[in-house]
Amino acid sequence: MRALIMLLTIMIGISYASTEGEKLFKERGCIACHHPEIDTVAPAVKKIASVYKHNKEALKKFLKGKGEPKVDPARFSLMKPQLNDTKHLSDEELEKLVEFILKSQ
Ligand code: HEC
Repeated sequence: MRALIMLLTIMIGISYASTEGEKLFKERGCIACHHPEIDTVAPAVKKIASVYKHNKEALKKFLKGKGEPKVDPARFSLMKPQLNDTKHLSDEELEKLVEFILKSQ
């Protein structure tokens, strides 16, 4: 019973974090360029997730404006201004946003 309650708490925690991340992704306007599954003007969220799947810290670093583009460097000029926004996110918000992106595989 105890284990079940713990499991439920963890599951609720995870889904809460991912909804928060998704909300940020929409509110911050990322969704305008990044489609969940299809490459448009910008790479699909799914594609970003596959590039960064074993490299969560590098993804955070990129969004803090301290990394190099890895997914589609040729189009980085479109993404660069967005970093002025993402680098001001709190650590907690950044964590949620990154979790949402990495879950989209
Ligand atoms: C004006 C369109 C546009 C908006 C808005 C936008 N992006 Fe991007 N994004 C791009 C383009 C184009 C690329 C491909 C260039 C690149 O890889 O950096 C990209 C790439 C990325 C990458 C991959 C970086 C890499 O290593 O190559 C991440 C992560 C990302 N965007 C996150 C976000 C987040 C989070 C937001 C919202 C705060 C956002 N983007 C808003 C256009 C946009």
